[in-house]
Amino acid sequence: MRIGILGTGNMAEALGGQWARAGHEILVGGRSAERAAALAGRIGARAGTLKEAARFGEAVLLALPHDTVLDVLGGAGDLGDRILIDCTNAIGPGLLLTTGPGPGAARRIAAATGARVVKAFNHVTPTVWSRTPPVFADGPLTVPLCGDDADALAAVAGLAKDMGCDPLVAGPLARADLLEATTAFLIGFWHAGRDPRTMLPPPAALGG
Ligand SMILES: NC(=O)c1ccc[n+]([C@@H]2O[C@H](COP(=O)([O-])OP(=O)(O)OC[C@H]3O[C@@H](n4cnc5c(N)ncnc54)[C@H](OP(=O)(O)O)[C@@H]3O)[C@@H](O)[C@H]2O)c1
Repeated sequence: MRIGILGTGNMAEALGGQWARAGHEILVGGRSAERAAALAGRIGARAGTLKEAARFGEAVLLALPHDTVLDVLGGAGDLGDRILIDCTNAIGPGLLLTTGPGPGAARRIAAATGARVVKAFNHVTPTVWSRTPPVFADGPLTVPLCGDDADALAAVAGLAKDMGCDPLVAGPLARADLLEATTAFLIGFWHAGRDPRTMLPPPAALGG
């Protein structure tokens, strides 16, 4: 698959590196030509501008701060046929969502672009995504995906499998709001040095 990576930071490197190793054709786009070329060199991809990467990809990873995404995509033309993979976390002070009470990050991007947005890869760190593979004692890492387009979900599920992860379609894009909020909640545990899994009993213990 042709994948455009928007951004040259940690998420871009972790996910772009995995997909390049899996044989996908990657174009890294950054606002700094040097940083885009350097990342492309490290992962075995081509480099270009943000606009070029957005136009190149059948799928486009938004590895940018959430509040920059719409400005960056604004210059990229019609994205109606693109799969936008939204890994952004719109989290501000107090670990609260900066998107407030309205639609969440992914839904705002979908509404503004008309693209097929899939929320994915936002719930853990680049350190995890760069593991080869992201498999732990309990097995492959589950990657929750939310989106409204079945083909786009299947394509992103394939990208998660290519990395050695276990994709889980977790519902329509409306549920991306919950995944975004859950991530902010989880980060609170991790910042406090606590393991959020300790609040979850085994499923069999839940009763009826
Ligand atoms: N780090 C995590 O643990 C983590 C986990 C899951 C999801 N995420 C999400 O993934 C996204 C990327 O995070 P990251 O950790 O990769 O961040 P990062 O390492 O700081 O990289 C951010 C990238 O965005 C670019 N950028 C910043 N402002 C821009 C602007 N106005 N226009 C164009 N490009 C701009 C930066 O370019 P320059 O290098 O030129 O500054 C850099 O390439 C964020 O939305 C974040 O919430 C992060």
